[in-house]
This record gives sequence, C-alpha cells and structure tokens, in this order.
Amino acid sequence: MSHQLPTHFTAVVAEESDSGEITYAPQKLSIDALPPGEVTIAVQYSSVNFKDALAVTPKGGVVRNYPIVPGIDIAGEVVESTSPDFAPGDLVVAHGGPIGTAQYGGYAEYARVPSDQVTVLRTLSTREAAAIGTAGFTAALSVAALLDGGVTPESGPVVVTGASGGVGSVSVDLLAAAGFEVTASSGKSDAEDLLRRLGAAHVVGRLVADPKEKIRPLGTSQWAGAVDSVGGATLALVLSTLQHSGIVAASGLTGGIAIPTTVMPFILRGVTLRGIDSVLIGPQLRRQTWARLESDLRPAHLDEVITEIGLDELPTALDSIGSGRTTGRTIVRIADR
Ligand SMILES: NC(=O)c1ccc[n+]([C@@H]2O[C@H](COP(=O)([O-])OP(=O)(O)OC[C@H]3O[C@@H](n4cnc5c(N)ncnc54)[C@H](OP(=O)(O)O)[C@@H]3O)[C@@H](O)[C@H]2O)c1
Repeated sequence: MSHQLPTHFTAVVAEESDSGEITYAPQKLSIDALPPGEVTIAVQYSSVNFKDALAVTPKGGVVRNYPIVPGIDIAGEVVESTSPDFAPGDLVVAHGGPIGTAQYGGYAEYARVPSDQVTVLRTLSTREAAAIGTAGFTAALSVAALLDGGVTPESGPVVVTGASGGVGSVSVDLLAAAGFEVTASSGKSDAEDLLRRLGAAHVVGRLVADPKEKIRPLGTSQWAGAVDSVGGATLALVLSTLQHSGIVAASGLTGGIAIPTTVMPFILRGVTLRGIDSVLIGPQLRRQTWARLESDLRPAHLDEVITEIGLDELPTALDSIGSGRTTGRTIVRIADR
C-alpha cells in the first residue's frame, strides 16, 4: 500500500520564551521538519502521560531543547520504512528513547522515529495500544518484575500506589488478573468503584497523607510485593512494610524524588527495590513486553480506564495529569481512520 506523504502536516508545537515560559498550540509544519529515523508513521492515537505534562511545564526537566512536538506515545500506521522489520501498512506502537522529549512525538499527524522504538501490533488495535501506552507498558514491566522475582499470589497480598493513575490502574488490572489480592491505594475517593471493577480487593487512601510525615525504618510487615509510581515518602513506607523477601517495582515520582528510608528493610527483611525504566530499555525487551501485553499480561478492563479526547482538549488533560487529578488513561485521537 503506497501512501503519499503530504507537503505539510498538523502538529502541536511547544515553544519556550526567553523568560522560560512554555506555550503550545497546533501548527502546520513542513513534512521536511520530521526528524531523521527509519520509520515514518501516520499517527492515529497518542496519549497523555505525566511526562507529557512535564514536557510543557517550565523547568519540567524532561525536554532539553524546544521547540518540541510532545507526546511520548505514538500508535498508527507505517507509511515509510527503511528498516526491513517494518513495511507500509503495518500497525505499530512507538514510545521510549527520544520520542516526545528529545525528538518530535505523537501530538502530530505524522511522526518519524528510530526503528528500535517501534513494535508491530498483532492483535491490539492502535486505540488499545495508545490506551496502554507508556504508562501501561510500565505497569507490565512492573508486574513482570514481581512475577519474575518469584512473587506469586501465594506469597501474600500486594499493594499498588497511585492506583487511579495510568501506571497504577493498569497495574491493578494486571495483578488482579494474575490472581493477586490487590490493595489499591488512591487519593481519589471517587475512584473506588473503578478500582474494584479492575479487581482490587481493598481500596485505601494514600499511604502517606503528608509527604513530610516521618517514616519508621520498619513497620508492620504486610506486602509480598508492590507497584509504586509515587516515590518519595510513599516508597519509603512501602519499603518499610514489605514482607521478608518482598519486592517493590518503583517507576515514578509524583510524590517526590527523595526516598526517606534506611537500610533496615534491606538488611533485616531482605527486600528488593527494583527500578523500572521504560525509556532506555532495548528493542528486544520492549517487543517481548508488548508481546506479553497481547497475551498473558493483556489488560482485561482497558475500556474501563479510557477517556478519549481530541487535540483541542489537550491543555485541560495535561493540566489535570500534571496536578494528579487524572483517573485511568487518556488517549488523544489524532486521525479518524
Ligand atoms: N520509569 C518509567 O519508565 C516511567 C514510565 C511511565 C511513568 N513513569 C512515572 O510514573 C509516574 C506515574 O505516571 P502516570 O503517567 O501513571 O501518571 P498519573 O496517571 O498522573 O498517575 C499518577 C498518580 O499518582 C498519584 N499522585 C499524584 N500526585 C501525588 C502526590 N503528590 N502524592 C502521592 N500520590 C500522588 C495519583 O494517584 P491517586 O490519586 O490514585 O493516589 C495519580 O493519579 C510519574 O512519575 C511518571 O513520570 C515512569
């Protein structure tokens, strides 16, 4: 199938003023503005991640050079490829590496990306792949880290922090489907019904009400495993309440970057703090993880967590996720195909 690239395409461009202010709006760009890369994609869907909000926040710390087209997730159809692994017509998902932070991302009709970041979709639609996106992919890496580390439903209950968010909600879904007794910790009381539908056995409030709260070196031993995308004092509390040999998969920083912990959980309970990175992992693990997201780690309740928006609603959605108010996964419809 041949696809004639247009001379121009619409993209949301974020720019930084001399005073450090960041503004963003749709613009028409020449097709020649696409960066180098092996795979050119007609974008159908992108999504809204916490990192996308940081990309349009002054001193957000994720974009080194503006202007940039944000959008760390891309799902669409390959229209050109110089890589033997991809052909025009392939439906793909692309994320990680430079996408949306160092190189133009998904809030655009077209994107050109390095082939290492691209995975062909077998049974997931582009809409579903965008709904999973970087957040759901990170949830899958986190759940796989617990399973591969030997944490089983028989080991005991598990906790998910930031449970109503992107990483959190997909993690609850995946862990419950794997048979775990899941406690979902969320600051949003109105998310309880959703979290129970995803499979949470228990829904509790945020584990740490005040980020300045002093965390004891060891608390009551509760969790065989944990998926934490909050960080800060919350991660310290999770570490101090893991059972002996428990594992926490840590991916995020919505609650802060400093972890006020001690060596005690490590040397007295042998716990593991397992870091999760979705950005710099290689193509093999990226594609293996998408293969699992299409099979044993396929989210059972994806439709329940999706909110679909158009580009015009992006400012509201980015503002919401940047301030911790978003529930589930927001996908951005770029083209009706
Ligand atoms: N390591 C990686 O490769 C990787 C990949 C993806 C995401 N991340 C990181 O993971 C985190 C979550 O990303 P996301 O896209 O899932 O964001 P998200 O949808 O906004 O979810 C984050 C959740 O954290 C909770 N939260 C927000 N502010 C908080 C605060 N001040 N204290 C405690 N909890 C707070 C909220 O859940 P409740 O209201 O339910 O408590 C919020 O919904 C971000 O830090 C992101 O950068 C890392």
